[in-house]
Amino acid sequence: MAAIHTPALLAAGQPRPRNYPANQYAFRAKSHFLYFLGEGLPGAALLFARGTMTLFVVPEQPGDALWTGPRPTLTELATRHGVDSVRSIEDLPAALADAGANVATLPTEDAPSAAWLSDLLGRTVAPSTGNRLEDGTPDAALADALIAMRLTHDQAAIAQLRLAGAASASAHLAAMRATSGAKTEMEVFGALVGHLRSRGFQDSFAPIVSTHGEILHNETYEHALNPGDLLLCDAGAEAPEGWAGDITRVWPVSGHFSDTQRALYEAVLDVQLTAIAACRKGVRYRQVHEVAKRRTVERLRDLGIFRGELDGLLERGAAAVFLPHGVGHLLGLDVHDMEDLGDRAGYAPGRTRSAAFGDCYLRLDRDLQPGMAVTIEPGFYQVPAILSDDAYTGKLGGDLRRDVLAKYADVRGIRIEDDVLVTEGDPEILTKDVPKAPSEVEAIVRGGH
Ligand code: GLY
Ligand code: MN
Ligand code: MN
Repeated sequence: MAAIHTPALLAAGQPRPRNYPANQYAFRAKSHFLYFLGEGLPGAALLFARGTMTLFVVPEQPGDALWTGPRPTLTELATRHGVDSVRSIEDLPAALADAGANVATLPTEDAPSAAWLSDLLGRTVAPSTGNRLEDGTPDAALADALIAMRLTHDQAAIAQLRLAGAASASAHLAAMRATSGAKTEMEVFGALVGHLRSRGFQDSFAPIVSTHGEILHNETYEHALNPGDLLLCDAGAEAPEGWAGDITRVWPVSGHFSDTQRALYEAVLDVQLTAIAACRKGVRYRQVHEVAKRRTVERLRDLGIFRGELDGLLERGAAAVFLPHGVGHLLGLDVHDMEDLGDRAGYAPGRTRSAAFGDCYLRLDRDLQPGMAVTIEPGFYQVPAILSDDAYTGKLGGDLRRDVLAKYADVRGIRIEDDVLVTEGDPEILTKDVPKAPSEVEAIVRGGH
């Protein structure tokens, strides 16, 4: 409230019905709301006005006690959350009228909430991202205040991130162990999600469990597992208060990397360890991305996939041919934390995305500070649409050695991802409980069922 000088309203968001109102998709509150309350209450809102914080909740509806059980009373909620007061959402219009002019709020991708907020505030609240927030408006001030608070995590948040990291790691171990008894991606996916759910965690995003790791966000699970395949698993836990983990591991279905798979796996792992070591206080995250790109091209040149001088290869776009995404992103209550605000959170004022292929997907360009959590997730992908397109490979000519690359045909996609907390000293790996050294990974997969 001190930072924004206007009242502010944060909506939890509306539950989304499937075919009739009571049959709903799982509800997940907006993270800005969760940040303050720690509990996602469907349809609720927080009003910050006149120096007080008021929680407005949907009151008990007829039939609730029968169908879904009694709701907590307003007094119980006030005690649980320490807000100044709790009132019925029906009182919100009057409270807004009393709060004064220029009530700030945030854009939301949840269209019913955007419509509801527009109606309440008598102006258009965009159902989109904060890239369009106009500087100097109350909404932009609110976004900037939240960004300032959420960019670095306090001890309570760090405890939740550690919890999410450990649960994410344990779910990956379960998935590795389930592989030897599985015939399809679906079975490994089921083991992973079941492991999380049975321990009270949600998944923090739709898990990727795929033998086609070159499809970066492949969210289908229909492929059979064949002995020569690598399985890429990118999944994370959401801790009870909403905080996210995000891990990627890759393992051989058979429990044995081929020589070519191992060589590329070790290259990506070296890139990852190098990039993690660069995550120190004061370092610009774009620099970490550049470190990862350079090391990737260097390692691929060592393997003979590229030839030529390093700077020249990098200038000709060599890195993005095999690593066409950013090296990572902010992590917090969301897996791509605060991306609902567009690049306003990920990019420091005055910094903007590069137009270059690969770099254009870099989601974070801030100077790292103690308390920031980021992912580090380099990879190697053989994407047919990139390798067959002169727009991406043309400048490299024969320095991209396709004859050598052909020997690595048993690798479609590798990514290795950990969650890293920036500290005053060495980076803390929040997801260290799941091994990534190739022989350790093999042993876990083989020791499965
Ligand atoms: N799975 C989303 C990410 O790793 O960024
Ligand atoms: Mn990630
Ligand atoms: Mn991930």
